[in-house]
Amino acid sequence: MSERLPGGNKMHDNKKYSRLHLERTIVLIGFMGTGKTTIGRLLSDISNLPFYDTDELIEHHEGIPISDIFQQKGESYFRALEKDILKDALDDKQKVLATGGGITKDPVNVKLIKSKSIAVALHSDLETIIKRLEGTSKRPLLPKQGFEKKLKKLYNERAQLYDFAHLTVQTQNKTALEIATEIYKSITEK
Ligand code: S3P
Repeated sequence: MSERLPGGNKMHDNKKYSRLHLERTIVLIGFMGTGKTTIGRLLSDISNLPFYDTDELIEHHEGIPISDIFQQKGESYFRALEKDILKDALDDKQKVLATGGGITKDPVNVKLIKSKSIAVALHSDLETIIKRLEGTSKRPLLPKQGFEKKLKKLYNERAQLYDFAHLTVQTQNKTALEIATEIYKSITEK
């Protein structure tokens, strides 16, 4: 696990950082299929903080699944909603917040996450992500036809999008509980 300060500097004194920012919301970022929701729920149990997920908040707001929002209203409508919901969630009480994999495409969202949360990036290699997402119908950006090609393209395009995080965690070959525990310890241990 590597720890970084906002701005990308290596963090030498994780303990000091943790004490300063323990009151912040923990935001999980990362590519689709890295386990943000599953790990977020476990982290919420461990940390005793409420759990929210921007995709779930959007679905609740619209009353239809994400794939239908993309189909009926378009991606830019989804992105505008995602931005509003992120802002509201970070202005509100402390929580664990899982986000959609495209949220950090918007520099305004990145700035907000950096300045108001403890940002934790989950990272998985491409093969693991392909295995996890094969056959999904819940990801509107990944069509059945040409699934792997589109996934690889997005994965490469977005390779740098999560680098600003305060913590980056590798997820392959670990259980979700191990990862959630690792994050919790890294944030809170004195
Ligand atoms: C998206 C990822 C999805 C969801 C939407 C767009 C993306 O969330 O927000 O389908 O652009 O990567 P997950 O990362 O939870 O799959």
